[in-house]
Amino acid sequence: MPMLTVTTRDGAVREIDGPVGLSVMEAIRDGGIDELAAVCGGCCSCATCHVYVDAGDMALLPPMTADEDDLLDASEHRTARSRLSCQITVFDGLRVEVAPED
Ligand code: FES
Repeated sequence: MPMLTVTTRDGAVREIDGPVGLSVMEAIRDGGIDELAAVCGGCCSCATCHVYVDAGDMALLPPMTADEDDLLDASEHRTARSRLSCQITVFDGLRVEVAPED
């Protein structure tokens, strides 16, 4: 299974397995990391699954939709590496960091 590397809010680095096609939000949740509220369950309407993607991995992701962009705009912690983890899927070697809570 692909390996996803997740840096949690306290700076701990965890490696978790996630099936291809699973959203990063689900992989993080299923991997036992309890830092994403993911209130809307992955339907792109809450922004509580905000992560920062490693700069080297950003170009490997599909472009964000207008809805994702609008939700991220509402976050005071948005950066150039911000994505909603329910809107991106796992691939081997992907590295993400859980963003601070808004
Ligand atoms: S879980 Fe709600 S936007 Fe990702």
